[in-house]
Amino acid sequence: MQEMQIRTVSDPPALACAAADIIAELVRAKPAAVLGLPTGNTPIALYAELARRVEARELDVSRIVAFAIDEFAGVPRSEAGTNSRFYRAHVRLPLRALHVPNPDAHEPEAHIGAFADALRRAGGFDLCVLGIGRNGHIAFNEPGSGRTSRARVVALTESSRAAHASAFGGIERVPARGLTLGIAELMDSRAILLLATGAEKASIVREAIEGTVSADVPASWLQEHDNCTWLLDEAAASGLRGGAD
Ligand code: PGA
Repeated sequence: MQEMQIRTVSDPPALACAAADIIAELVRAKPAAVLGLPTGNTPIALYAELARRVEARELDVSRIVAFAIDEFAGVPRSEAGTNSRFYRAHVRLPLRALHVPNPDAHEPEAHIGAFADALRRAGGFDLCVLGIGRNGHIAFNEPGSGRTSRARVVALTESSRAAHASAFGGIERVPARGLTLGIAELMDSRAILLLATGAEKASIVREAIEGTVSADVPASWLQEHDNCTWLLDEAAASGLRGGAD
């Protein structure tokens, strides 16, 4: 098994460029790549950088098929705060397709299962980009998510709901449940790129990279992936004991 790669760059703008370089390299090698795309504050600058490169004709994303990795459940797509709204606002890229689960699906469990089936039929992720929650979640796999967990409906933790309070206009408006790809589907990705910035992520980044592999810190499962890169800014890497490059 290959070691996880840990790359540290100075700050969030440098991280956006380095992440865009990784995606651009993949797309050059495989123009019709299948990508997993996260929401959150961390990847916003990456999406802007990708859009800049497309505009400058440095990058062609027109054959890329992308899938969201999670969505809220029990709200209309149009509700401020949903991931559907996030993608519309921030992923302004002429992709071949960007599939996002329907947060208002009648049968959410069946819906997210069918979403994962569609991902498999598309060939699975060539690269799945992830963020990390302060509690160690990846996608909406909250603490307690096992290595074999699959796409499902999950109860969101207070910590995750609090992180979305302002987008929904108050924590009481943040849905209690989410739809997520499971650890199993994320780990099936041929490559994983985890992005983290800021000092508030330093301790969970350290636990996930240097701590015991366990469902208590879902991102720690990535230690068992054979092609996973952690791209960190200096603040997020500041808790690591081992020397990052
Ligand atoms: P953030 O979210 O980028 O807004 O910190 C990360 C996550 O919860 O996955």
